[in-house]
Amino acid sequence: MKIPALGLGTWDLRGHECTKIVQLALALGYHHIDTAHNYENHEAIRKGMEGFDRHQLFITSKFKIEQLGPQDIAGSVEETCDNALEQLGTDYLDLYLIHWPRRTWPLTEIFKAMEILVQKGKIRHAGVSNFTIHHLRDLLDDGCKPAANQVEFHPYLYQKQLWDYCQAQHIQTIAYRPFGKGSLLHDPLLRKIGDHHKKTPAQIILRWLFQKEIPTIPKASSEKHLEENINIFDFGLTEEEMKHIDHLNQNKRFCGAEDPEFDY
Ligand SMILES: NC(=O)c1ccc[n+]([C@@H]2O[C@H](COP(=O)([O-])OP(=O)(O)OC[C@H]3O[C@@H](n4cnc5c(N)ncnc54)[C@H](OP(=O)(O)O)[C@@H]3O)[C@@H](O)[C@H]2O)c1
Repeated sequence: MKIPALGLGTWDLRGHECTKIVQLALALGYHHIDTAHNYENHEAIRKGMEGFDRHQLFITSKFKIEQLGPQDIAGSVEETCDNALEQLGTDYLDLYLIHWPRRTWPLTEIFKAMEILVQKGKIRHAGVSNFTIHHLRDLLDDGCKPAANQVEFHPYLYQKQLWDYCQAQHIQTIAYRPFGKGSLLHDPLLRKIGDHHKKTPAQIILRWLFQKEIPTIPKASSEKHLEENINIFDFGLTEEEMKHIDHLNQNKRFCGAEDPEFDY
């Protein structure tokens, strides 16, 4: 799967503000827009994409398992996808994700329903989000191969073991919440490295991910932040700086920390 290195996260962006930010981002050269049914912004994103060439864009959306009707899984997954397509005004998604694993639901059956959507051309790739190694292993054992696993991933949650596993299985890791919703942006080491390169802590985190070849989807709601976040391709972190940043890991989650599906 070919995916842009940097995308726009749209959690918490809605209505006119969302439309405006999507327009600005696409005009600045972003190509990947990340959304989900429960962000309630598919329509606002559709308006923001108007006038841009759909084939140059990479659109990811995700559905919550709890949205599905338990009786007819395949029909329910397709209906959910059809809703997303209609709301986004497109006839395919580049990537569709199971938003969160729920062991009480038949994950394999749900994933197989997504594979049918790939065959039908409604989605280019089927993937998952917030899956740990044990969830992925079960899917792989059942002959299912997710194209991607979108997970929280940043210097305070450097999920090396999960990343290594995904690389070995050719599952693309995508880093969400790269700034820990802003909490990492005051870190003294990231500031120090940033000062050295005349870059901000946000740019240092995005560059750290870029050098690991992990695509990411920071959210921004101003032109200044959008510009700053895409301006990371004109400098490089040294191997030593990369290692120092690796060592900031605290296994700290800013999303779903108490969720029993996580086993670290
Ligand atoms: N799969 C999942 O379960 C899941 C879960 C969470 C998130 N996500 C996805 O990941 C995306 C990103 O995560 P997130 O939105 O939670 O948090 P984030 O990207 O880690 O942080 C967003 C925060 O950082 C600020 N920011 C952005 N660029 C900045 C810059 N250059 N300098 C200073 N501050 C900056 C934003 O402020 P402004 O808004 O003021 O610009 C916002 O407050 C989401 O939008 C969503 O698409 C997926």
